[in-house]
Amino acid sequence: MRKDRRHQWVIGNWKMNGSLAVNAALFEALAAHRSSRGRVGVCVPTPYLTQGQRGLGASEIVLGAQDVSAHVDGAYTGQVCASMLREFGATLALVGHSERRQYNGETSIEVAAKARAALAGGVTPVICVGETLSDRETGAAEKTVAAQLAPCAELIRVTGVGLIFAYEPVWAIGTGKTASPQQAEAMHAFIRDEITRFSPDARDASILYGGSVKPGNARELFSQPNIDGGLIGGASLIASDFLAIVDAL
Ligand code: 13P
Repeated sequence: MRKDRRHQWVIGNWKMNGSLAVNAALFEALAAHRSSRGRVGVCVPTPYLTQGQRGLGASEIVLGAQDVSAHVDGAYTGQVCASMLREFGATLALVGHSERRQYNGETSIEVAAKARAALAGGVTPVICVGETLSDRETGAAEKTVAAQLAPCAELIRVTGVGLIFAYEPVWAIGTGKTASPQQAEAMHAFIRDEITRFSPDARDASILYGGSVKPGNARELFSQPNIDGGLIGGASLIASDFLAIVDAL
């Protein structure tokens, strides 16, 4: 197991939270932090990208968005394309977060198209997958995750290691229920096998765990052989918690 070959990440997903005043303090705390062990990113609501670009300045924190259009430009009211994100300093974009699949009806085919458009525009997609509670209870968790990954096969084949994946079991998001390190590790190993089937290079892609990661459980999750850090929701809104999770890398 060559974990040392893979980038370790902690990425915050602020979701639809924040205000200019609240963000200012958070950006300031993040910008002052130095992490020796991994990469740190923060995916903020689109209107706050400028504030993030300024607030994070020359710090080592990577700025990201929470979604990206599957299109390059044109008549797509309300959408934001990768080249626009780049102009505001964002080099990461979440795609296929379960909340977008659930509330915006995004399909895995659309998610793959968004990931492709992100890469083409110079933005690294963080491809999110994860099963629901009923999938898990009926033994269909792996089947669901495999089906979510399948439309990305061609992209994985041509891109290899240049993608980031996040496993976020829907039942663990914002619920306080974390997948056990063993449950998470088993699914991460499965995802790594799947993406390696599409491209041997993809074996070294980073796969992050998300779902109720807190300072108290981060270390054990991150120490699993196939877990390369975390995608953090609620705890990323509290600077001290988020930075404690970063330090758990
Ligand atoms: P929580 O950390 O709040 O459970 O959210 C996880 C998540 O959805 C990150 O994208």
